[in-house]
Amino acid sequence: MRVTCIGGGPAGLYLGILIKARFPSWPVRIVERNRPLDTFGWGVVFSDATLENLQAADEATRREITESFVHWDDIEIHFDGHTIRSGGHGFSGISRKRLLSILQARAGELGVELNFQTDVTDIGAERDRCDLMVGADGANSRVRQSFAQEFKPNLERRRCRYVWLGTTLPLDAFTFIVERTEHGWFTVHAYRFDEELSTFIVECREETWLAHGLDTADTQQTIAFCEQLFEPYLHGHRLMTNSAHLRGRDWLNFTRVSNERWSFGNVVLLGDAAHTAHFSVGSGTKLAMEDAIGLADALAFAESDGLEQALEQYEVSRKLEVLKLQNAARNSTEWFENVARYATLPPEQFAYSLLTRSQRIGHENLRLRDTTYVDRIERWFGGRAVPPMFVPFVLRGLELQNRIVVSPMDMYSCLDGTPGDFHLVHLGTRALGGAGLVFTEMTCVTREGRISPGCAGMYLPEHVPAWKRIVDFVHASSRAKICLQLGHSGPKGATKLLWDGMDEPLDEGTWPVVAPSAIPYSPKNQVPAELSRAEMDEIRDAFARAAGMGLEAGFDMLELHCAHGYLLSSFITPLRNHRRDEYGGSLENRLRYPLEVFRAMRAVWPADRPTSVRISATDWVDGGIDGNDAVEIARAFKDEGADLIDVSAGQTTPDAKPVYGRMFQTPYSDRIRNEVGIATMAVGNITDVDQVDAILAGGRADLVALGRPHLADPFWTLHAAAELGYEEAPWPVQYLSGKEQLERLAARAREAAS
Ligand SMILES: Cc1cc2nc3c(=O)[nH]c(=O)nc-3n(C[C@H](O)[C@H](O)[C@H](O)COP(=O)(O)OP(=O)(O)OC[C@H]3O[C@@H](n4cnc5c(N)ncnc54)[C@H](O)[C@@H]3O)c2cc1C
Ligand SMILES: Cc1cc2nc3c(=O)[nH]c(=O)nc-3n(C[C@H](O)[C@H](O)[C@H](O)COP(=O)(O)O)c2cc1C
Repeated sequence: MRVTCIGGGPAGLYLGILIKARFPSWPVRIVERNRPLDTFGWGVVFSDATLENLQAADEATRREITESFVHWDDIEIHFDGHTIRSGGHGFSGISRKRLLSILQARAGELGVELNFQTDVTDIGAERDRCDLMVGADGANSRVRQSFAQEFKPNLERRRCRYVWLGTTLPLDAFTFIVERTEHGWFTVHAYRFDEELSTFIVECREETWLAHGLDTADTQQTIAFCEQLFEPYLHGHRLMTNSAHLRGRDWLNFTRVSNERWSFGNVVLLGDAAHTAHFSVGSGTKLAMEDAIGLADALAFAESDGLEQALEQYEVSRKLEVLKLQNAARNSTEWFENVARYATLPPEQFAYSLLTRSQRIGHENLRLRDTTYVDRIERWFGGRAVPPMFVPFVLRGLELQNRIVVSPMDMYSCLDGTPGDFHLVHLGTRALGGAGLVFTEMTCVTREGRISPGCAGMYLPEHVPAWKRIVDFVHASSRAKICLQLGHSGPKGATKLLWDGMDEPLDEGTWPVVAPSAIPYSPKNQVPAELSRAEMDEIRDAFARAAGMGLEAGFDMLELHCAHGYLLSSFITPLRNHRRDEYGGSLENRLRYPLEVFRAMRAVWPADRPTSVRISATDWVDGGIDGNDAVEIARAFKDEGADLIDVSAGQTTPDAKPVYGRMFQTPYSDRIRNEVGIATMAVGNITDVDQVDAILAGGRADLVALGRPHLADPFWTLHAAAELGYEEAPWPVQYLSGKEQLERLAARAREAAS
């Protein structure tokens, strides 16, 4: 098979090596427009794990690379006059030039044909001359552009500008410097990559860059600016550039590249041409070289299965791994783009937030890397070395014994709104299980405001004693507090029990539903009647009455459900609210009624008991609520006296395109907490202790709600305590023998794992 590779960067060269090592008879030609060691940038980093992959693929290359490495373990963060260090991160740096020269030499030794200073312009002609054409031509890939119809690329230009500089400053840690100027924040990402030199990347927001006039600065002016700004850290060392061969300016915008397909016919994309990962996660070269391993492996099947099949196999083998890393890189990119948001955090938490920004490293993972650092952050967070989730939290006069919350979950098991034995056992067990706060499911303020015939209510006199029985049990038998979530189904009402079909309209026993506008939730749902002002008054009063009944029942806290496309959520989202009166139109107008309801509820709720509001922080569709709106919504409720925002997302339209993943809604909580300055609760696919503690210690939320994990394990919190070796979590006295045994087993498991 004749292989032509456009681009002789790490991806193309490494692929050439691997193909030649495995299939020596295949002619492999690499065409590169630059001279052999003509390269932008300075150094690249590899994690220890990446090196293991390289070792398995081609030991000779790995050995050479490893011999040229500078290894370091620490990350050092300079912020606000503080220097914070954390260890155990295990990275190695190498000069990009050195890496390329190793790869070029090895490729030459194995018989790869290397053509330098050849800019390929006619991609189609190159393709016709070979059996397999590889587009390894970097982030601005001409191969990708030439076949854009087939690859369907997505290019996302990010909001920061960066310049990739070098310095003789001898750094002994991966170093972040975060520095404020009169026009905004600058961040440095710096690391040493050989005996003499370190990479020094400077980054700032586009508007900051413009305000400093850096758009008109030439290279020397850029360097002078950066040297002056970072003078206290440079200790007399100079900054340098080697980007003279680059056309245009020194300051670039990072572009996130992804492609719907990576191959078609005999053309395949590799490395940055297929996908990019922001330099702040330092993984672009790793991904490029791992792509080469994946492609070389898949090509072994080209003869038996056909080339196209083999290329598809390569894509399948790599895509998920790449997507995971790109998601982590997106979190990291956004963290640096919004560094001003985090600059309000105390330095300890700022540093922790930076270290865990990609959501890939959790609290226990950090502890494995550096116990002393984690002890220090725990002491800072909780006053002593305690897992953050077990640090009490106070909202008004309510003290929660820990930060774990049983998220509201509809059980569809009430009769005319009355919770019965099932609810006593269900909520009672979860309170016994150790969570600091247990939520009721959405409890509907009128019969017609129920989602289904099985939903809970607070509209009949008998609802008060039925709830009181549960509340009293929780208070008498556990240290958990209990929060009543009040809601009205609006356009999503009169539907079946969950297990008979989610959002499916009732076949019999239905009732008319209402909404801000006559827009059905989906084509199959009922068309709701548009609410008149008089009806809005009635529903508002029903909320206030239900709050009063909740007080009678003894609830510790109240939550207003303004999420998931139910009535109040439908007022807020423009997708469902097309009103022409003062309750429709602008976000301010759309919030008017939900705020009015909140005010009415707050008025009957005692001043020393807290309230929370659950919102959908995004509709996950264009033209709907987005992160910017979510900040405004949270601010509006905060101004009315809400103590906590329970940050959920979506479920407002069947057209939503959610981006699922671990902790996928937490970035919204993070943003609201740190931009609005209100306590938040994160929720959504948070499943383990590592994630929970990282969210809390990093200041991404003040409480963490777990829904499905609590359905699977009512004792999630007590299990977490045992897993962490935290013995102080109070167990029900009746169960103490279980505590001892579980702790013993958990200690053994920890020992075996260490
Ligand atoms: C500021 C910054 C810092 C980074 N830091 C790191 C890091 O620390 N660690 C890390 O792993 N990664 C890092 N990266 C990413 C890394 O540089 C890339 O991910 C990696 O180089 C991708 O390798 P590649 O071979 O796919 O593409 P490239 O290295 O871009 O190579 C593509 C090659 O194709 C050539 N080419 C392009 N078009 C043509 C054409 N038409 N004809 C002939 N030749 C052509 C180019 O000249 C180039 O040599 C960083 C990137 C940036 C921008
Ligand atoms: C069966 C079920 C019922 C739910 N009922 C409610 C509800 O009544 N009120 C509410 O606000 N959210 C409800 N939710 C959403 C959860 O509170 C939570 O936000 C969601 O499950 C995501 O968290 P998780 O990934 O931890 O499960 C429900 C979720 C499930 C799985």
